[in-house]
Amino acid sequence: MKRTKVIDALKCTAYGSEICVKGWVRTKRGGKGIFFIALNDGSTIKNVQIVGDEANFQEETLKRITTGACLSVVGKLVESPAAGQASEIQATAIEILGDCDNTYPLQKKGASWEYLRTVAHLRPRTNTFGAILRIRHNMAMAIHTYFHEHGYFYFHTPLITASDCEGAGNMFQVTTKNLYDLKKDEQGKIIYDDDFFGEQTSLTVSGQLEGELGATALGAIYTFGPTFRAENSNTPRHLAEFWMIEPEVAFLDQEELMELEEDFIKYCVRWALDNCKDDLEFLNKMVDKGLIERLEGVLKEDFVRLPYTEGIRILQEAKENGKKFEFPCEWGDDLASEHERYLVEEYFKKPVIMTDYPRSFKSFYMKQNAPVAVDSPDGASVGYKGSVAPGPTMQGTDVLFPSIGEIIGGSVREESYDKLMAEIKRREMDMSHLWWYLDTRKYGSCPHAGFGLGFERLILFITGMQNIRDVIPFPRTPRNAEF
Ligand code: 4AD
Ligand code: MG
Repeated sequence: MKRTKVIDALKCTAYGSEICVKGWVRTKRGGKGIFFIALNDGSTIKNVQIVGDEANFQEETLKRITTGACLSVVGKLVESPAAGQASEIQATAIEILGDCDNTYPLQKKGASWEYLRTVAHLRPRTNTFGAILRIRHNMAMAIHTYFHEHGYFYFHTPLITASDCEGAGNMFQVTTKNLYDLKKDEQGKIIYDDDFFGEQTSLTVSGQLEGELGATALGAIYTFGPTFRAENSNTPRHLAEFWMIEPEVAFLDQEELMELEEDFIKYCVRWALDNCKDDLEFLNKMVDKGLIERLEGVLKEDFVRLPYTEGIRILQEAKENGKKFEFPCEWGDDLASEHERYLVEEYFKKPVIMTDYPRSFKSFYMKQNAPVAVDSPDGASVGYKGSVAPGPTMQGTDVLFPSIGEIIGGSVREESYDKLMAEIKRREMDMSHLWWYLDTRKYGSCPHAGFGLGFERLILFITGMQNIRDVIPFPRTPRNAEF
């Protein structure tokens, strides 16, 4: 008999008809000769209730219906007398497809997140992870739909690369060399001539540089793929392998880039509210009571546009009024997450797009603003003392979110070959592997801009989960690559 998915069985009103459902036992209870099974097949957060008369089944079969066991059930669909469900199934035949004994690690309710990470191979079968993973799928669909509807082309950038986009050097090497017998030159440097690619290669930290090649040909592209960072950050917001969405658009200026960032995030949030209602309601009840209200709130807010220099002024003022920060926040410092969260959660109480950063901690490719003199009103207002010139700020546009911090990192790109080269020289960067990138500035260079959204950080926000390890099926973090 053809199987009906639980999600469809629950909607079906053809009472009296015979159907077959298959899934895993969530709970089984009974009494007075009647048993009740809550069966789930992953198609929805909801279980279908199976009701049966014990007298109609073998004792041996009934014993094997334990939490976690996999069943095939045939029965009559009936209107349910129980509250909260339209229909249930009166079982006529039950086949045990897979037994599940009492060593099953998910028997107890209320297991901690930490414990569930140790059984990541089974945790998708819990209600919470089922909800998170269905939402994750839905957000991927939202993202592809948004870009497709707005005329962007899905552009596939390589995962193996010989260049370091962000220039931070946190890359995983890719090699087929025998690590027990490395050939080195006189200076002790490893020789890569005989390696697979004939040069040193790594897993990419970002598809942006190749994305720019796409944008300067197709006009508007986006990437959506895994990226890898070997930074030793054991935080609730960092993964060594995460998914990133990177649109890159020709002829976009800073104002338009910010509009795109805001519109795109709001579209994703709206998609979740429209398409993931049951799962969000479950998470709102079990994980985070303010979740749905927060999601709806974001749709109503205009994101704040905040120049970095103004952000530093607000943070300094907070310090003067007694606010304690662990890390320094002088002009020129990269903001720590405590600073981002103060601005977003306490000061503005809404998402913030921070702009125009000092170049000290931003990437070489960002468009440079005209330099600000130290003795100008702008230079003075940032409290820049004496000898060191602030240098030009760069047209970054990072989006900071409540409870997440940085969710998007973006910028307008420097399109002037001369300015870009000057910055590369100033940083003493080795550009031998990036000659092709510089060609975009040599041949028909154009203004363009783009950003990177961390997919898991978006899922953190949408689900209300607190740890990034819990919004990806199999997290990769320092000292952890199991499953
Ligand atoms: O700010 P990032 O480093 O920007 C770039 O890589 C640019 N090339 C993007 C672009 O303009 N095309 O990273 C972008 C986003 C961050 O805002 C954050 O959401 C996420 O990627 N991210 C991480 N997410 C999880 N774990 C990590 N280790 C992450 N590092 C960055
Ligand atoms: Mg960033």
